[in-house]
Amino acid sequence: MTERTFSIIKPDATRRNLTGKVNTVIEDAGLRIVAQRRIRMSRAQAEKFYEVHKERPFFGELVEFMMSAPVVVQVLEGENAVARYREVMGATNPAQAAEGTIRKLYAESVGENSVHGSDSLENAKLEMVQFFTEADIVG
Ligand code: CMP
Repeated sequence: MTERTFSIIKPDATRRNLTGKVNTVIEDAGLRIVAQRRIRMSRAQAEKFYEVHKERPFFGELVEFMMSAPVVVQVLEGENAVARYREVMGATNPAQAAEGTIRKLYAESVGENSVHGSDSLENAKLEMVQFFTEADIVG
């Protein structure tokens, strides 16, 4: 089934000028970038986006990190896009990520792990609307 998922290229990757390299892995995996914008996340945006993690010990650090440099927010489209993108990203901790995945190739640590991808179709929709309107998405 054709789906859309939400992606963020994180500050550790934009800082190292890796946006194009990450996008190449995404496109080579058969996913289409149907919306994309480079932004500076505000504290309010970062705190809302990671609200589910607000009780975690790393929440403050995570919010500061997401504000520390530009991010690239994206909508990806393709067959089973949610699961496909999670495969392409690799495990959250790059030490456990499979060969060829974005995190194995580029991530620096479990916190500075280069990309975010939605973990379900429901969350993909909730995350997308925080950064895009339907008119921004051109399939
Ligand atoms: P992401 O997929 O964006 O969802 C939650 C994020 O929290 C995760 O990627 C990591 O960037 C971050 N994270 C998860 N575990 C840790 C940790 N132990 N220390 C710091 N950051 C973490």
